[in-house]
Amino acid sequence: MCGIVGYIGTQAAAPLVLAGLQRLEYRGYDSAGIAVLHEAGEIVTERAVGKLLYLAARLELAPLSGHIGIGHTRWATHGGVTEENAHPHLGMNGEVAVVHNGIIENYASLRRELQAEGVTFTSETDTEVVAQLVERELAQSGDLAASVRAALLRIEGASSFVFISTRQPDRIVVARLGNAGGIVIGLGDRETFIASDIPAILKHTRKIIFLENRQLAVVRSDKIALSTLSGAPLEPEIHAISWDPVAAEKGAYRHFMQKEIAEQPRAITDTIRGRVNFSSNRVHLETLPLTVAEARELEKITIVACGTSYHAGLVGKFMLENLAEVPVEVDYGSEFRYRRPLVGKNNVVLAITQSGETVDTLAAMEEGKRQGAKLWSIVNVLGSQAQRSSDGYILMHAGPEIGVASTKAFTASLVDLYLLALQLGTQRGVLQGERLEEAIAALARLPQLAGQVAEEVEIYHRLAEIFYTRDHFLYLGRGPNYPIALEGALKLKEISYIHAEGYPAGEMKHGPIALIDRMMPVVAVATRDGVYEKMISQIEQVKARGGIVIALVEQGDELAAAKADYVMEVPGTTPFLAPILNTIPLQWLSYAIAVRRGADVDQPRNLAKSVTVE
Ligand code: AGP
Repeated sequence: MCGIVGYIGTQAAAPLVLAGLQRLEYRGYDSAGIAVLHEAGEIVTERAVGKLLYLAARLELAPLSGHIGIGHTRWATHGGVTEENAHPHLGMNGEVAVVHNGIIENYASLRRELQAEGVTFTSETDTEVVAQLVERELAQSGDLAASVRAALLRIEGASSFVFISTRQPDRIVVARLGNAGGIVIGLGDRETFIASDIPAILKHTRKIIFLENRQLAVVRSDKIALSTLSGAPLEPEIHAISWDPVAAEKGAYRHFMQKEIAEQPRAITDTIRGRVNFSSNRVHLETLPLTVAEARELEKITIVACGTSYHAGLVGKFMLENLAEVPVEVDYGSEFRYRRPLVGKNNVVLAITQSGETVDTLAAMEEGKRQGAKLWSIVNVLGSQAQRSSDGYILMHAGPEIGVASTKAFTASLVDLYLLALQLGTQRGVLQGERLEEAIAALARLPQLAGQVAEEVEIYHRLAEIFYTRDHFLYLGRGPNYPIALEGALKLKEISYIHAEGYPAGEMKHGPIALIDRMMPVVAVATRDGVYEKMISQIEQVKARGGIVIALVEQGDELAAAKADYVMEVPGTTPFLAPILNTIPLQWLSYAIAVRRGADVDQPRNLAKSVTVE
């Protein structure tokens, strides 16, 4: 959610921190600020409401000089969108500055306690409470790390913090409590970077330390002292990040979302690469340790995920139950832990999460672990909390996904689910011979087929021109394409702000058919599978009631095309891979409509790329 960047070294801190925040713009925010330890020994800050360009303009007019700095882009949780509530926040004596990601659940009682001691507050935020607490401790201990430890003992809730202080102007102290958004420490040459996300600092270093839950780091320009919150020293694990910094940039594309839709053939290829032996028809998921015996003992997989990742889980259910014959439940991360779920030994809780930091999904994983289930995850970020807390994981290999609306990570997660189904089906002895060969051969053709639909073609912009002013859309699908109807509707609503609903087509007669009129376009996913004829019948039912149908059909399917008012085409493939191809035209359609409406495609209002608060 919030973006955090810190710097300590020999260069001017403010420009580097601002540039890092600009690379985190996609995380969503409503205000931003920077604090720098000035040569004169005091902390100077600059904050602004709105886009980063307003903060940049102020820094242009009044540059902040100093070699230690911290910055923040805020997505308001406690306190309105005002300059006073923007981070960084200072203690009342100006000796401590902090930026924060997460929520302090007991901030109100702490605030009252501090006010009773005469502390004055200048904001409505929970964050300012921790600045005051640390400054109060610092007056006793004189040591920033010790003061942070003491203060955090009082804090309830998941949070990440970055502190600087005038008392010790040679260090930054970083701490993490619970599953709030991650914090990474990047090691440079006599300089060190801190960020909530790797793209913010990838330009400067590929040597990254991931701060884990209940850890604290004292960061100097040339060394890191890592420990537990209680003070036990730890040896930091340094990861080498292989991402290409350019991959995290937009290149020749107008929007990150446009680039990431177009990148899907490569992302699918990268996700398959190295995991399938196409001559022996064997799948090997290198980071998911599972013996044949364990695969055969597996009683149930419960998939937990949010948003688009939840829709991937619904498709995964079809893949895993049909190809691996393992029972699958799918639940929202935000619902799972509150419904008294029944998971236990010989069960797996499988989290699907692009960011690996979605707090609802992480909390669902914790509940699964508490009940004795094995934890697996499908993630796009190596080193994310979900990946590091799993017994086994499968990377999406989609590369950094910057657009808030998830596209390439979604299709990459479907490929991962398909690979998992193939491996499990083989290990469980229920997928073999010709059926296995066909399943593997279809996968081999997938990148090339995806290449046919990943090109932005005129049809989507023509449809956008006709329908961009509509207020409602209905998306219909059946079987593995029902989740694709849900996903198509989510894409449209989250970037164009048009109300859109996904529905199982068979449900139309149980209510939604009452909605049909000429003003509400119906998008019908009607590629050939076991329920194709029923989808054709549903299209006819909509037409019979005066509805307008935009059908997604297989290339050359003249029968389906003749039933619809407008047609989008995809190449044919097997029913379990069709959802991957069918998603892409729906992504393009939502993109084209959002662009035609002049919407903020990469940073839709109220949304953030990673939802690290409940
Ligand atoms: C997807 O387009 C949305 N931005 C959102 O629903 C997202 O899928 C959801 O927040 C889950 O994110 P995750 O995959 O990083 O856990």
